[in-house]
Amino acid sequence: MKNAHLLRWLPRLLLDVHQKYVCVASRQPALHLGIFDQSRRCVFQIKFFLFISFFLLLASSAAIAQESVCFTCHEDIAKDWQQSIHSKNGISCHNCHGGNPKDADNPMDPKDGFVGKPTETGVPEFCGKCHAGVKENYLKSGHSAALIRGGPNCVTCHTAHKQKRASLDLINKELCTQCHTFDRAEKIRNAMLMSESEITNLEHRIDALHAQEYDIDAVKKSLFATRNQFHRLTHVVDVDLILKETTGIQSEIARLKADVKEKEKIEAKRKIYGSIVIVFFLLGALIFWWYRNTILSD
Ligand code: HEC
Ligand code: HEC
Ligand code: HEC
Ligand code: HEC
Ligand code: HEC
Repeated sequence: MKNAHLLRWLPRLLLDVHQKYVCVASRQPALHLGIFDQSRRCVFQIKFFLFISFFLLLASSAAIAQESVCFTCHEDIAKDWQQSIHSKNGISCHNCHGGNPKDADNPMDPKDGFVGKPTETGVPEFCGKCHAGVKENYLKSGHSAALIRGGPNCVTCHTAHKQKRASLDLINKELCTQCHTFDRAEKIRNAMLMSESEITNLEHRIDALHAQEYDIDAVKKSLFATRNQFHRLTHVVDVDLILKETTGIQSEIARLKADVKEKEKIEAKRKIYGSIVIVFFLLGALIFWWYRNTILSD
């Protein structure tokens, strides 16, 4: 509620402060609606302040969207959730559990789609609502087959409320040796790391070319698709499959690499020609200077 109030008076306050102090200070008394009579500079300043207000308005409306009655009773969980990647992407309690985050009297009503807490075996379906591709691969895994016997589900590896951006670092001793030895986990990690480092390296090179204003979008898109196809494999936790797919992924990486190298060559040539032109200019200037100072002064 505080935010809604803020929303109304903040832009007004900014405009008022600006008109009373900033425009007056620059000796251009800006009266309400007198904007058109002002110098361009003052109008620019007003636009600038409106621009800032607009951003503050956006920020505070985002804050409103995240306000939820669920936080009041589930304080600890809300604190965990606030650190999660879901919170950063606007996925709140009700997006996973259902219910009505604005109804303080009856927030957990099944009529509002409240589904409560998923069972151990229900978790993949629960998360898979939004992560369909990952779920599909997980369901093919030995982990999924073992779920009824205590195999890991999404929450075992990602937690229920503190999910972070995922990477191969998740395949670590602490997590993966809870139920079996690390050697099979390590095989998966090593098989993945090979392509992973090449993909990251290509990403950096593409970014560098992009900074030189090369049209590299098509290559970037292909790499992104390859990256996703590759990362989806992890959840099958099948070393043979990963090694098999790696062959195809490696040839796609090789093709993209050749593409990027070609563009880098052109860029290197451009730099050399640029330097040659500059050297010629400097030489010309030097000869001119020498001519003026030696020949003309004689
Ligand atoms: C007025 C306090 C209050 C508010 C507001 C509230 N809850 Fe709860 N919630 C509780 C209590 C108390 C329990 C445990 C009671 C029980 O086991 O049924 C609970 C249990 C739950 C559970 C576990 C249910 C289960 O199946 O074990 C979930 C999930 C949940 N709440 C989500 C939410 C969400 C989502 C919201 C907002 C839409 C919300 N709660 C708002 C008090 C609240
Ligand atoms: C990404 C989906 C997701 C979001 C977002 C989410 N939860 Fe949960 N929540 C779960 C899952 C999955 C479980 C079951 C955990 C388990 O099985 O150990 C759970 C369990 C719970 C429980 C039961 C008690 C417990 O700790 O197991 C409560 C209460 C709850 N959540 C409340 C909330 C509240 C309040 C929010 C918002 C601050 C929230 N959840 C956001 C997925 C989510
Ligand atoms: C055995 C542990 C484990 C289980 C179980 C698991 N994950 Fe993962 N998850 C990982 C690891 C490790 C990564 C990082 C993969 C990578 O970087 O290639 C990951 C990555 C992800 C990603 C990011 C994918 C991407 O494109 O970068 C999402 C989303 C995800 N998991 C969701 C889920 C969901 C939903 C489930 C349940 C159906 C689940 N995970 C089950 C370990 C697990
Ligand atoms: C209502 C939709 C929704 C549900 C349900 C949901 N997520 Fe997500 N999840 C998202 C969105 C949106 C993102 C952020 C998109 C992105 O950047 O990849 C995300 C991101 C993630 C990531 C990080 C992905 C990455 O690229 O590294 C993980 C891990 C993850 N979710 C796990 C889970 C788990 C585990 C569950 C179940 C407890 C779950 N999600 C349920 C929508 C959802
Ligand atoms: C909660 C227990 C548990 C955790 C945690 C766990 N696993 Fe497993 N894992 C199992 C079970 C159960 C099986 C299937 C039965 C078996 O082969 O022993 C399995 C099987 C596997 C297999 C063999 C799959 C196959 O098809 O042969 C690999 C590889 C594997 N896990 C990797 C991992 C990695 C990587 C992690 C950490 C990110 C991990 N596991 C974490 C329980 C777990």
